[in-house]
Amino acid sequence: SSATIPMLTIDGPSGSGKGTISLHVARELGWRLLDSGVLYRAVGWVVNQEGIDPADHAAVTACAQRTRIEFVAADDGSEVRVLVNDEDLGSQLRTEVAGKYASAIAAIPGVREALLQLQLSLRQAPGLVADGRDMGTVVFPDAPFKVFLTASVAERAARRYKQLREKGVEVKLEALQQDLEARDARDTSRAVAPLKPAEGAVVVDTTGLSIDKVVAKVLAVVRG
Ligand code: DC
Repeated sequence: SSATIPMLTIDGPSGSGKGTISLHVARELGWRLLDSGVLYRAVGWVVNQEGIDPADHAAVTACAQRTRIEFVAADDGSEVRVLVNDEDLGSQLRTEVAGKYASAIAAIPGVREALLQLQLSLRQAPGLVADGRDMGTVVFPDAPFKVFLTASVAERAARRYKQLREKGVEVKLEALQQDLEARDARDTSRAVAPLKPAEGAVVVDTTGLSIDKVVAKVLAVVRG
């Protein structure tokens, strides 16, 4: 069974560096990578595009059930593209708006249920690094290795600000920090699969740490 396949869960709030760290750690270990946030972003994107009211839980759940999400590995194995209903949305899924929609629809139990099987099916040899909010608590509770990444909200906002500015996106740091706080509040206070460290998770505070330092700390969790 897939439960014998090694894996590492990396959970944490927006801007904690999960995405970057997970990518580096997966490469280092030679394991597959599941960016579970992409699934919620994909559903949020379709909900938005189809003009579905995010407050209509039945409609959003039905949308999650019929949305086809596929991960396609590039020929050189470097990058995974995400196809949503056969469409490559590229960086559109990474926008702040997509993140906001994702956070809103992620609070709906039926949506989480609709996305569960796909996530479980990605646990394949030689191993999996799964990043998200509930990887260690709900989706892969039996994972042998679990990490919870944190960072101060000021630092997380500053990181996001830098990323967006580098991409040429005009944003205000203050607005970004307020958005982050709102998203944190929603992700941690929701009734289903709220953001919190899994039992036995190693908590790593990344405030002031370089990517290399954090990667080393996370790898140490797996390699001992
Ligand atoms: O990690 P991210 O920023 O791409 O996630 C976007 C939103 O999706 C996040 O605000 C909450 C939701 N999410 C979730 O509820 N559970 C996950 N495992 C991953 C993301």
